[in-house]
Amino acid sequence: MGYDATTIRTSKYREHRRMTARTVLLATSNAGKLRDFAGAAAAFGITIANIPNFSSLPEVVEDGATFEENARKKAESYSVAVPGELVLADDSGLEIDALGGAPGVRSARYAADDPHAAECSTVDEANNAKVLRELKGVPEQKRSARFVCVLAAARDGQTVHTFRGSAEGIILDAPRGKNGFGYDPLFYFPQIDKTFAELSAEEKAQYSHRGKAFRAFLSWCRVADDQNL
Ligand code: IMP
Repeated sequence: MGYDATTIRTSKYREHRRMTARTVLLATSNAGKLRDFAGAAAAFGITIANIPNFSSLPEVVEDGATFEENARKKAESYSVAVPGELVLADDSGLEIDALGGAPGVRSARYAADDPHAAECSTVDEANNAKVLRELKGVPEQKRSARFVCVLAAARDGQTVHTFRGSAEGIILDAPRGKNGFGYDPLFYFPQIDKTFAELSAEEKAQYSHRGKAFRAFLSWCRVADDQNL
């Protein structure tokens, strides 16, 4: 098979892009999320770093009606602070069918304004306690739920692409497991007969909504590199 000069130049350029780590800036102040994402990205030759001086940037209010709206809003706003760079932001939460999709986009602050919340020492415990109260008496077959994560990639104030991942499970009537965070101890994942709080970080990334969305993003990066985007 013969190659002309343009083909050789293009393939050398692609090879160069493949060999040169792409850097993606993550819009988060959560060190745990940065660690999770950076670990998974390294195998793809992608470096994940925090947006420089992230804590000094004006906070973006997460008032969207959907995970996608919030993720896009964060990625677009923060990308303006780092011209030309690809910025990734995520929004995630738990949807419980018996509660009409709640806590949904309010997952992080579900127990706010709840008079019972003051009895609990941490936000996660208060949120979990509220879910258990609201599901009291609901039988197992009606306790279906899913974690959802939407990632938005933006550059110069414009969303380039969004990626969605979800994990289907059942809400238990008591917490189980010590790992993870948030609603993990209540979220039973039938596929492996464990709650998310009974998984190591690596195991959780394999099954979780965040892991799935992030793998979709990494595959997209690979295709974008091949097409020189
Ligand atoms: P955010 O994506 O940081 O806004 O998180 C929203 C909230 O959803 C968290 O504070 C948790 O309460 C819940 N959440 C999102 N992902 C997970 C997860 O993987 N495990 C447990 N809770 C989660």
